[in-house]
Amino acid sequence: MYHQSQMRTRSFAVFLAVPTPLLGLVGVLAAALAGCRSLPPSKPEALWTPEEARGAQVYQLKCARCHYPTTTHGLHGPGLQALTKVKAMPSGAPPTDERLTQVILHGRNMMPSTPLTDGQLSDLLAYLHSL
Ligand code: HEC
Repeated sequence: MYHQSQMRTRSFAVFLAVPTPLLGLVGVLAAALAGCRSLPPSKPEALWTPEEARGAQVYQLKCARCHYPTTTHGLHGPGLQALTKVKAMPSGAPPTDERLTQVILHGRNMMPSTPLTDGQLSDLLAYLHSL
């Protein structure tokens, strides 16, 4: 028997150790092992602020083709559920707004850079915090 928070740490430790193509499989296994309850739930759409709702639209346009928002399972990049609620992103970096801004605007490895206006960026960050 593992305590839930230990389980969460273990899942993410596994994420750090494997190459990107295996993330999806590892995510499925980790979620199965954790009983799919290892992450805090996303904010329901009905409770979104106007900023979060606009950010969701930016996400649909610019991010959704590569990232699932409601799971950590991989698509082309890692799933982003609970992205800002965990200690470290898949790369190991802390999920600060500063770091997220850098990854979004400048890209990272196979992730392309995404040019956004300041308004789009702050809406998108608000949305990412709701995941
Ligand atoms: C063409 C596919 C693609 C698009 C579009 C894309 N990403 Fe990514 N993303 C990736 C890949 C691949 C990675 C893994 C990069 C790596 O660490 O090697 C990634 C990684 C990330 C990470 C984790 C960074 C880390 O430090 O671990 C975040 C957060 C992220 N993307 C957010 C976004 C957001 C927000 C958008 C929309 C603005 C976006 N991505 C658009 C493919 C994409």
